[in-house]
Amino acid sequence: MDISFSGVVTFICCVFAAAAAFLIRRSKSKSDGGEDSCNLNGGDMVEKVPVTVVAEKHTGASMMEQLVPEITTHALSYLDYPSLCRLSMTNSLMRKAANDDNAWKALYHKDFTLEQDSVTPINGWKAYYAATRAIMNVNADFFKIIKERSVPAMERFWINADYVKCFHASGEYFTGYNAVIGSWQLAFNWEQNVDVEIRDVKARVMTDSAWVTMKAYLNMGSGNVTNVFEFHNGRWYMVHHHCSVMLIHGGAGQQVVQG
Ligand SMILES: *[C@@H]1O[C@H](CO)[C@@H](O)[C@H](O)[C@H]1NC(C)=O
Repeated sequence: MDISFSGVVTFICCVFAAAAAFLIRRSKSKSDGGEDSCNLNGGDMVEKVPVTVVAEKHTGASMMEQLVPEITTHALSYLDYPSLCRLSMTNSLMRKAANDDNAWKALYHKDFTLEQDSVTPINGWKAYYAATRAIMNVNADFFKIIKERSVPAMERFWINADYVKCFHASGEYFTGYNAVIGSWQLAFNWEQNVDVEIRDVKARVMTDSAWVTMKAYLNMGSGNVTNVFEFHNGRWYMVHHHCSVMLIHGGAGQQVVQG
């Protein structure tokens, strides 16, 4: 792609983004739901948003509709997730564009990870994006439970099975539901004001299992974490947690902490 052509593409994308922003604002003011009204799994609520095609002729939207798909996809890659959702609610053409698999692939790479470029999700990138977002939320819940030190929440979080395993930052290892929950009970009794920050979170989601890797930074140290989840009866359960032996801040790794 030479410079002048990419300049034209950038210009078209700017115009497109501006027109899209207009459409999104308008659709937002017409529907009360805001971000939450985006239904990732179905388009059934799209029909309910009353937008006339005639009005778009005066706003430049008709120009958007004439763009070649490659440019539309490229332009859509500048939008974030709520915007893409709202855009899909403006009219059928925009819904088609906003459901474009490449747009969702671009958004997946932007929001989650540049890895998994060679992956071909069986139900398309939109569904894969939704599944990844769901598992990211479940994973974040795990650290919320640790922060709140809630034993009942931890009990609900794990599947009640003999094969679950938990490797704590202390290096201690527990297997089986009762032993694992017991170890968290003990950890929650001992620890005070745990501040957890997770970075480099990467998820791989399959039909009914998923694993997430990340770096965890606590007030006392940091470690590498792997969490594994299984999908049963309509929800995700933790089946495996492994935290590498945690490095104490400023230390050389000789000391280990409880967790
Ligand atoms: C994760 O593991 C790598 C390799 O052992 C190590 O260099 C790094 O410090 C670990 N990260 C954290 C956050 O502890």
